[in-house]
Amino acid sequence: MSADETTAPIDMTRTTAPEVPIFREYVERSLAAVAREPDLAGTMLRHRFHGSARDKQVAANWLGRRLGAVPNPARLLMTGGTQNTLMILFSHLAPQGTAIATEKLTYAAIGQLATLGRISVLPVDIDEDGLREDSLEAVCKAHKVGAVYINPTGHNPTTSIMSIERRRRVADVARKYTVPIIEDDVHGHITEDAPPPLASIAPDLTWYLMSVSKCMGIGLRTAYLIAPSEDGLADLLRPIPSVSSWFVPGLSAAVITHLIESGAACEIAGQISSEIAARQDIAQQMLGHLGLMRTHRSSLHVWIDLPPPWTIEAFIQAAAGKSVTLRHPRVFATSGTDIKGHIRASLIAPSTHEGLRRGLRVIADLLAGRA
Ligand SMILES: Cc1ncc(COP(=O)(O)O)c(C=O)c1O
Repeated sequence: MSADETTAPIDMTRTTAPEVPIFREYVERSLAAVAREPDLAGTMLRHRFHGSARDKQVAANWLGRRLGAVPNPARLLMTGGTQNTLMILFSHLAPQGTAIATEKLTYAAIGQLATLGRISVLPVDIDEDGLREDSLEAVCKAHKVGAVYINPTGHNPTTSIMSIERRRRVADVARKYTVPIIEDDVHGHITEDAPPPLASIAPDLTWYLMSVSKCMGIGLRTAYLIAPSEDGLADLLRPIPSVSSWFVPGLSAAVITHLIESGAACEIAGQISSEIAARQDIAQQMLGHLGLMRTHRSSLHVWIDLPPPWTIEAFIQAAAGKSVTLRHPRVFATSGTDIKGHIRASLIAPSTHEGLRRGLRVIADLLAGRA
């Protein structure tokens, strides 16, 4: 019997990819293939920098499926994940005296990375369609904006998916004020019917980031970066040729390239999407009738509106009293943004459907005032 089937605590905080049935077989196969490669020593003993020529070509073809056209591999890097790439991009694009604009509720790492790099963050208003272009325009008029970071597809934490019309309007504002866009498309490969990325609407303005953390595995510590131009990429790289902390881990690059070339990456991403959809069905069954849940079929979590008189703290405490762990949403708020009455609940953190049902039942009972 697994822990989830007992009365063990249910963690509903983390949103890493679920383990899917074909995962072990395909990853074992790729690891074995990499172990047999003639240059195994090279993979383990030398830097792979930002990926081999083959890694980049394979990646360009794979990302081309999402972007609508195969990007020039000369604009593409493999890096050690979204977060260390963001650190480099923030300091490159937002030198002292300028700031990064972003959705007022945003990926928890953004505020922490900005603090680390002493970078100012400017909150931009959001609605059900994501970042609002009128608010971005107001921020661009009033401040020196070095770049705007946007997570338009499966926004973390609100789950919104920006419409194509809004994407075009946001890109127009960024163009008007010559503000580069940093697009975080971490959910792009696992979102059904995802609108085209900003990188395909405004490729000359957009630094496009696609991590493998959600569509393959966070343990690989790898993301792809596509720069708006070869010159822009050269400028980014010039001052930091020896900073290896953002080089791609060689073993990860070799495994990922094999997973993509063998077709396994697409199958794994497909199964991850199916598992997320199955868990979304469970969430609909258990919480949908309450009308308090914002989500979509491809989201790893749900965003819940807490009805009065619940406060966030009281709700988290009440859930903890019933062995369900939830994260305080203050981690998503840019500084100065007051976050009221919402909770993010991961549908993926419980390892089994039974565990998920148990966690959601606790949340449903609390929301309905039954507990
Ligand atoms: C919005 C967003 N971007 C990126 C990532 C992945 O970051 P990394 O590539 O550093 O694992 C996550 C994972 O939680 C995320 O929620």
